[in-house]
Amino acid sequence: MTVLKIAIDDGSTNVKVCWLNDGEINRLTSPNSFRKDWKSAALRQANSVYNYQIGNTKYTYDATSDKAMSTTHIAYQYDDQNLLAVHHALLQTGLTPQPVEIVVTLPITEYYDADDCQKNEANIQRKKDNLMRAISLNKGELFEIVDVQVMPESLPAVLSTLVNSDVNGLTKSLVIDLGGTTLDMGVIVGEFDEVSDIYGNKEIGVSMVTDAAKKALAAADSDASYLVANELIRQRHDPDFIEQVVNDDQQIPRIMQKLQDKIEELGAQVAYEAKKFCKNPHRVFLVGGGASLIAEAICQAYPTLGSKVVQVKQAQTALAEEICLYQAAAAE
Ligand SMILES: Nc1ncnc2c1ncn2[C@@H]1O[C@H](COP(=O)(O)OP(=O)(O)OP(=O)(O)O)[C@@H](O)[C@H]1O
Ligand SMILES: [Mg+2]
Repeated sequence: MTVLKIAIDDGSTNVKVCWLNDGEINRLTSPNSFRKDWKSAALRQANSVYNYQIGNTKYTYDATSDKAMSTTHIAYQYDDQNLLAVHHALLQTGLTPQPVEIVVTLPITEYYDADDCQKNEANIQRKKDNLMRAISLNKGELFEIVDVQVMPESLPAVLSTLVNSDVNGLTKSLVIDLGGTTLDMGVIVGEFDEVSDIYGNKEIGVSMVTDAAKKALAAADSDASYLVANELIRQRHDPDFIEQVVNDDQQIPRIMQKLQDKIEELGAQVAYEAKKFCKNPHRVFLVGGGASLIAEAICQAYPTLGSKVVQVKQAQTALAEEICLYQAAAAE
């Protein structure tokens, strides 16, 4: 029997999973929100409790906890939380726990050496070793990870787009990946002949806007969890949704203005960093959950490129999807 292969883009805020089922692509997004200790199942539906153990440490999945551990440090890529995030995401597929081969991702600045853009084999091995470690789920079964492959974040998200567009060996493509907590960029030459430059910035991410939304909501006596704040950003053009989360109607214009200001500020920062990093690319691709928030600012930053600034479809899950298709093609 062939072992199921699953592509997992394990970002710092969300794990994106893609797999093929009868030739059809399935995708899901699993938010990271773990805290120490276990949750009692007594008051809740048993199937919504995920109590994990790694070594002697107990963890639980808690979507709304204020005590959720931060995943924004680089060590996250090689620690307990990453192991938890990947196993938890696998369980969300609804597939029967079974042996699986997974392909995961490392931030480009971890995957490649900054000096010469060559693979950093030590980091790649470290990530593999971390994900092969033992973990258990209380009153439940986990997937058995039998093999781990590692690919770089951001860049492969545009693989098929590049192959299907008429790039030549000299075309320089700038990939901008705006995630929850980081801004990553890379320059690809040709169809993927070479990675010529990489960039990582842990100060710039969608969370800048999320934090502003949380604050604005709290000031209006409204629910302010991270998840709700993110949903408000996503559905900011839907008056019905806005009314659901803002208790005081009169505060709505002020909150929405704050959001808009912050989105523009984020766009301006990303555009500034992008121009500094790569002044004259031939094409620009936007990926990651924050792509739509900055698309306009990036178009304005590269006015001569016109339609060659492309927001990749399904920007948040694009990387996992491309990795999944790439693996399937390689297996044929
Ligand atoms: N359509 C959308 N509009 C606005 N924001 C969105 C949209 N889709 C996702 N997001 C936001 O994008 C962020 C997550 O993006 P993504 O999954 O790319 O990050 P990540 O890979 O976990 O983080 P990082 O790359 O920084 O490690 C979240 O803040 C989420 O709310
Ligand atoms: Mg990411």
